[in-house]
Amino acid sequence: MKNIIEIENINKIYDGGFQALKEINLSIKEGEIFALLGPNGAGKTTLISTICGIVTPTNGSIKVNGYDIEKDYRQTRSLIGLVPQELTTDAFEPVWSTVSFSRGLFGKKPNPEYLEKILKSLSLWDKKDNQLMTLSGGMKRRVLIAKALSHEPKILFLDEPTAGVDVELRKDMWNIVRDLRKSGVTIILTTHYIEEAEEMADRIGVINNGEIILVENKTELMQKLGKKQLSLELTEKLDTIPETLKEYDLELKDDGKELIYTYDTTQERTGITTMLNAIGNCKIKFKDLNTKQSSLEEIFVELVKK
Ligand SMILES: Nc1ncnc2c1ncn2[C@@H]1O[C@H](COP(=O)(O)OP(=O)(O)OP(=O)(O)O)[C@@H](O)[C@H]1O
Ligand SMILES: [Mg+2]
Repeated sequence: MKNIIEIENINKIYDGGFQALKEINLSIKEGEIFALLGPNGAGKTTLISTICGIVTPTNGSIKVNGYDIEKDYRQTRSLIGLVPQELTTDAFEPVWSTVSFSRGLFGKKPNPEYLEKILKSLSLWDKKDNQLMTLSGGMKRRVLIAKALSHEPKILFLDEPTAGVDVELRKDMWNIVRDLRKSGVTIILTTHYIEEAEEMADRIGVINNGEIILVENKTELMQKLGKKQLSLELTEKLDTIPETLKEYDLELKDDGKELIYTYDTTQERTGITTMLNAIGNCKIKFKDLNTKQSSLEEIFVELVKK
């Protein structure tokens, strides 16, 4: 698959001397959903704003569909739609004119059928004549998406599209994003909700302190860094782990009623059989057992801690 965005050695030092991006190298593939994860202040918005031409990089180069974002900014901007993190809308403006105006900004000919399709897909059609101030927070967010799509971009940036959005609407958003991808739009989203990245993304990038610390296919990431846990629900309460079981690195939880064994699924031998035998030898009985794969959240917390 071709790279639709190519970022090379990007640094951003803001006026005042703070370095928000450090030697960023990253390629985005055409048609993928890429999730950028990172804690507050990591540099997600700065990176997105740089690609969109809102923030000027201190050095480095960014190409969008082969065009340079500085030299060929007209081309690159028209390829990009941005849903910003902050809700800024003109309160008195009706939905329809806001969205048509956005399209006009890109010098695109009016296309009411296209805008109607977008507003319908975002369940905003019945609100098209409403002033923005009369919409709910979630609807305002959808208007921002409609605005970002108004000029038919090939690439859509969503900067925390679901911050403060309820579960129901979040799922709607996910469906909207999936439909967009089906129509060929490349999507880059930032999020704090790791389940969102887990649910949506093809690839995940983690940024911390202005540095990209990892880029990986989602499934591989979860397999590679994920650990599995086997938990044994004990029949009788255990006060301490017997000396002979010390080598298995077991954890005692739930007031001594649960034993937890952590193992690496990528290893040839997980050690489960020997561990269970050793437990049997100690006459420890259990009434139930289950396994659990570590979530992306746990992986993420580990990564950022390091
Ligand atoms: N205009 C600016 N001038 C100076 N420093 C800035 C400016 N904008 C952002 N920063 C700093 O750059 C760093 C990265 O900010 P950025 O908004 O990119 O983070 P983020 O990853 O989007 O965080 P969040 O998850 O909170 O949205 C922060 O330390 C921030 O204070
Ligand atoms: Mg941000």
